[in-house]
Amino acid sequence: MAYGDQPTLSVDGVEIPLLGFGTWQLEPSDARRMVAEALRIGYRHIDTAWIYKNEKAVGEGIRDSGVPREDIFLTTKIWVEHFTHDALLKQAEESAESLGTTPDLLLLHWPKPTPTFEETLGALNQAKDRGLTRNIGLSNFPSKEFRQAQALSKARLITNQVEHHPYLGVDALVATAAELGASITAWSPLAQGKIADDATISEIAQAHGKTNGQATLRWLIQNRIIAIPRTTKESRARENFDIFDFELSGEEMQRMDALDRGERLGDWLDPAYEWDKSAA
Ligand SMILES: NC(=O)c1ccc[n+]([C@@H]2O[C@H](COP(=O)([O-])OP(=O)(O)OC[C@H]3O[C@@H](n4cnc5c(N)ncnc54)[C@H](OP(=O)(O)O)[C@@H]3O)[C@@H](O)[C@H]2O)c1
Repeated sequence: MAYGDQPTLSVDGVEIPLLGFGTWQLEPSDARRMVAEALRIGYRHIDTAWIYKNEKAVGEGIRDSGVPREDIFLTTKIWVEHFTHDALLKQAEESAESLGTTPDLLLLHWPKPTPTFEETLGALNQAKDRGLTRNIGLSNFPSKEFRQAQALSKARLITNQVEHHPYLGVDALVATAAELGASITAWSPLAQGKIADDATISEIAQAHGKTNGQATLRWLIQNRIIAIPRTTKESRARENFDIFDFELSGEEMQRMDALDRGERLGDWLDPAYEWDKSAA
C-alpha cells in the first residue's frame, strides 16, 4: 500500500486512509465517474456496498483512474438478507466479482438477530480465510453487539462504520472501538450537507479560510475518526480532500464537539437492539 503523505490510521497492522470517498446513492454512471475523479484528486479509500447497486461501476472507476489497485483501500458490505452462512459467502464472491478485485474490507451492513451472530461471524471469517476479502468489520453495531461480534470473530473486526457528524456524537462507540482494538468510520460525516448552514462551523471554518465541509472533515480526522464524504460534484470532491494543510485548535475542536444534539439521519436499527446512550 502506498497512500502518499495523507494521514492514515493503523488498525491491527492495517493502514487505512483517514479520508475516504462514499458512494451511497450514486447511480452507476456517477459512481464510475466520481470514483475515477476522486482517485485522480488523491483519495485512496473508497466505500461502497452491495445494496448501493454500484459495485461494478466502482470497480470500473478504479480501473479508469489509472491508480494502481494496491494503492487503494476498498470497502464493501454484506447486505442483511445475506447473513446466513451460504448466502454470505455467495455475496462475498459476487461482490468481489462485480468489483473486479478483492476488497480490502468487508463489513456486515446492519446487525440482525437472525441468523445468529455465531453463524454470520463464522461465515464472515470464512470469507476472509477464503481470500474473498483482506479484512472484516462491522457497520451500525451498538457497543453491546460490537463486543459480542468481536468475541465470536477469530479475526479482528477492524472498523465499525456508524453515523457520526457534528450533530451526532458517538463517544461510547469510540471508547468501545478502542477497547476492542478497532476503529470508527463516520458515515454521513457532513450530516448529508446540513453542516453547510451552521453558523458555529462557519465561524471556525472562516478563521482558517476553509469551508464548513472542510472544517467538519478536519474535526473528524483530527479525532482519528475515518470519514467517507460523498458528492456527485468534482469541485466538492476536490474541496473535501483539501483538509490536510490546517489544524483546528483545542478550543475549536471543543466547539465542534458541543454541536452534538443526538440527531440521527438514517436509522434502520433492528428493534432487538438499542443504540448507545448519547452524551447529548
Ligand atoms: N454503513 C451505512 O449504513 C451507511 C449509511 C449511509 C452512508 N454510508 C456511507 O457514507 C457515505 C457518506 O454519507 P452520505 O452520503 O449519507 O452523506 P454525506 O457525505 O454526509 O453528505 C453527502 C451530501 O452532502 C453534499 N456535500 C458533499 N460535500 C459537501 C460540502 N463540502 N459542502 C456541502 N455539502 C456537501 C452532497 O451533495 P452533492 O452531491 O450535491 O455535492 C450530498 O448531498 C455514503 O456515501 C456511504 O458510502 C454508509
